[in-house]
Amino acid sequence: MSNWFAKSMTKFFRFIADTFFARRYGHRAVVLETVAGVPGMVAGMMLHFKSLRKMKTGYGPDIREMLAEAENERMHLMFFIEIAQPNFFERWLVLFAQFVFMVFYTLLYLISYKTAHRMIGYFEEEAVRSYTDYLAMVESGEVENVPAPQLAIKYYKMKKNAKLTDLIKCVRADEEHHSVVNHKYADGDTSYTRKNG
Ligand SMILES: [Fe+2]
Ligand SMILES: [Fe+2]
Repeated sequence: MSNWFAKSMTKFFRFIADTFFARRYGHRAVVLETVAGVPGMVAGMMLHFKSLRKMKTGYGPDIREMLAEAENERMHLMFFIEIAQPNFFERWLVLFAQFVFMVFYTLLYLISYKTAHRMIGYFEEEAVRSYTDYLAMVESGEVENVPAPQLAIKYYKMKKNAKLTDLIKCVRADEEHHSVVNHKYADGDTSYTRKNG
């Protein structure tokens, strides 16, 4: 049931993104990364509160992992904002999406954190797919392979003349990692469960 829900939500959001952005991957990345930064922050905050309530250790690694995910997604946004500037409508969409998604994700997390993580696991798989398509477009010359932003070169310690293709590969590897971590949490494999048996 929870897997079905997570998959359906993924299909639903994928459909909206495909309809709205089609193949404008730069814009798609900017808007979706603003949403991607939400779940890690919510999950990190919830775990932090849980640790306080239970007055127990063991939550630290997961809290840091989730907050690191949120930070990592925020950096993705900062890289792509240099590649594509959102239009006026997209900026409004970001405001709306942040509010709606934050409320939705927080409620889902409270009802079933496993379903919430499963959904993000699937979202991240879609992100990997989208970045793979974006990469193919840049490699085929359909989109210009511009130099990677300085901020990204520093963050990923890439070579000085790194290009957009190099950036997309790094970001895609991050999304792959997020997918693995979220599916793991959805399976109930967290640092505190391991520690407390
Ligand atoms: Fe991302
Ligand atoms: Fe991600």
